[in-house]
Amino acid sequence: MRLSHKLLRDAALFLILISMPVYYLAFTYSLKESSKSRELIVTRQLTSFQNTLKEALWNGDSPYTRQIVSTLGNIEGVSSVVLYDDKMEKIQESNSPSKRIPFSHDMYKELESNQVKQIKTKSEGSFLVSLITKKTDQGLEKLGIIKIDIHYNDLIKSAHARSRTMLAVLLGIFILIFFIQFLYLREFLIKPLSDFEKAISEMNVYADIKLKEDPNHVFEIANLTKTFNHMGEELKNSAGIINQQQMQMINVSKMSALGEMASGVAHEINNPLMITTGFLERIQKAVQNDPEKYSEIAMHTEKALKGTQRVAKIVKGLRSFARNGSKDPMQEVETEKIISETLELCFERFKYGEIQLEITKTVSGKIICRESQISQVLLNLLNNAYDAVTEMPSKNKWVKVEVADSADQNKILIYITDCGPGIPKDIASKILEPFFTTKETGKGTGLGLSISVGIVEEHGGKLYLDHGHDNTRFVLELPRA
Ligand SMILES: Nc1ncnc2c1ncn2[C@@H]1O[C@H](COP(=O)(O)OP(=O)(O)OP(=O)(O)O)[C@@H](O)[C@H]1O
Ligand SMILES: [Mg+2]
Repeated sequence: MRLSHKLLRDAALFLILISMPVYYLAFTYSLKESSKSRELIVTRQLTSFQNTLKEALWNGDSPYTRQIVSTLGNIEGVSSVVLYDDKMEKIQESNSPSKRIPFSHDMYKELESNQVKQIKTKSEGSFLVSLITKKTDQGLEKLGIIKIDIHYNDLIKSAHARSRTMLAVLLGIFILIFFIQFLYLREFLIKPLSDFEKAISEMNVYADIKLKEDPNHVFEIANLTKTFNHMGEELKNSAGIINQQQMQMINVSKMSALGEMASGVAHEINNPLMITTGFLERIQKAVQNDPEKYSEIAMHTEKALKGTQRVAKIVKGLRSFARNGSKDPMQEVETEKIISETLELCFERFKYGEIQLEITKTVSGKIICRESQISQVLLNLLNNAYDAVTEMPSKNKWVKVEVADSADQNKILIYITDCGPGIPKDIASKILEPFFTTKETGKGTGLGLSISVGIVEEHGGKLYLDHGHDNTRFVLELPRA
């Protein structure tokens, strides 16, 4: 059941339950008050007539007593007046006695001289009795008793009317208060709760769902909103981490598959290469004694040997690249060696793409590193440069590698510069983030630079984009050994 429906139902139930007691209390109070004032009026009138009545009874003046009885009988709310003599014989009577209230003899005995006694009977009325006495030489002489019946019929009617009005006003006030409370609850509890319900049902690890933090919210709801938003962020962050780890695992498994393949290919190439090299050397030896053919054959075999040596170098490079170097021990390596071996791996690709790849300046120096990992970083940077340059319309495309010393000579700086279109400012701030790529799906994972930064930092170095350079230039800083 909805909270709003429950509130409405409970309020209606409450109204029904309190209506009856409220009506009853209002009715009895109103009747009591009005009957009290009616009895007071009649009592006063009776008291004022008592002396006159006493004299009339003493003198046996029946017209006079009749007049008094009928005057009392005409008071509003008096239904009958009966006058008895001292033997309880009826002397006078006013109005119709149809609704007369019974009067017992015992009551007469209890009456004291000239005292007005009020006797309540049923809710429809009451009566007043008074013993009329006169002091004589023989003592107190009883002259008679007067009894006045008072009815409440009209008072009951008006008490009902008053109670109805009062109940209506009370219910009106209650409904108004409830309505204001209901609007308040709807705004500050029911609405935020349904917002929560909607947000939770739409929530998933990819959706960026945030509830508005409203300063007007009550403390509990404001707290709940904050906690909810925090939970959403945590969920998104952990989803991001899981995603990143998943991609890294994919990348690692891709790399290890590539590594296995590369080492297999290297092995397969190596055997025929050795055989070819062996035969070339035998040809060289065989023609050594034949001066006619020697110079021409020597020239060709020389070239063929150079070719096979280059293939052998690539195979070696492939083998070392294919290895997962993350567990290798750190070793002192000559920077030039790592750079030349890495360039060797992509030289053909650049040549085929008509991109000039050159080392423009170099200083020698050793670094302590895991060779295959630094090679991986360089290859990443070179591949990015290749991708940036390859689409350029210009014929003169180039990528330059430069090795220099840092100002304090403690570090070796490797610059990789390309003639590509550059990196726009808004993108430049994101390129080191994992999974950020501008390349089409399937071409780039967006992990190259972030993995490279991780590797370089493990080596105590830095990798960054040189914003001050005219061309796109990445700087790789590594501590000297
Ligand atoms: N030399 C460069 N010139 C222009 N943009 C570059 C260059 N190097 C990197 N970028 C930008 O940085 C982004 C991130 O590079 P990163 O190497 O991390 O991932 P990627 O190259 O897109 O994917 P992957 O390395 O997995 O193939 C690239 O998509 C590209 O937009
Ligand atoms: Mg890349």
